[in-house]
Amino acid sequence: MSDRQATPQYRRIADELLAAIRSGKLASGLRLPSERELSAEFGVSRMTARGALKALVEQGVIASVEARGYFVTTNRIDQRLQTLTSFTEEVRRTGRRPSSVVLAARRMDASGEVAAELGIAAGSEVYHLLRLRQADGVPVALEGAHVPADLAPGLLDAADFASASLYATLKRVYGILPVEAENTFEASAAGASDAAILDLAAGAPVLRMTRRSLAADGRAIEFVQSVYRGDRFTMRVRLAPGSTDA
Ligand code: GLP
Repeated sequence: MSDRQATPQYRRIADELLAAIRSGKLASGLRLPSERELSAEFGVSRMTARGALKALVEQGVIASVEARGYFVTTNRIDQRLQTLTSFTEEVRRTGRRPSSVVLAARRMDASGEVAAELGIAAGSEVYHLLRLRQADGVPVALEGAHVPADLAPGLLDAADFASASLYATLKRVYGILPVEAENTFEASAAGASDAAILDLAAGAPVLRMTRRSLAADGRAIEFVQSVYRGDRFTMRVRLAPGSTDA
């Protein structure tokens, strides 16, 4: 079967629209053609056209505005926090290409803070991987991960982290996968060095994030400190009903 046959029709239309959005032909805030216009333009049913629009809404690339149609959203990455996904997966989900610049990759003794977060003795060996994370080549986050060395021996040589995913490597090479995590968020202003790396003005808004992820056996597998560009991300959380008691 050729690729063309394997890709559903609605997805091919969604990909064409996505390319137009990414190239700036369909700029942020613009209205997309309606279901009717799309079905005429591509010679498909309205249901297929609707499927393409729905897929792009799912990806966070366009939004539907009641009675007005579909609009290109801002240039933000819509990151969903209800699942334990990696940066690579989140960026791909929104139709962008993830990459990293490895700023540091070294074995070191865990500081008191890192050791406490990882539940290991201070001074135990950890791998420190500091990456500038990019989407379509644009710097969007700075991410410093600490992984206990005994959990993933040889981690830093196990993959080229300029392109490889940490989660995918932990899974593929060591059979480890995060099953639980705690994330914290703090609004902040970029300091001079973070700003320079992230291509921001000093003082620009950023989101500081930490994540401590656990494996199925309860051991911490990473403690990550990240600085996300405030203008590039929307963090989305789906909430379950809570108690109505005050
Ligand atoms: C997200 C998480 C990090 C995690 C990273 C892995 O950014 N906040 O805690 O380390 O994903 O990303 P990847 O697997 O793409 O290297």
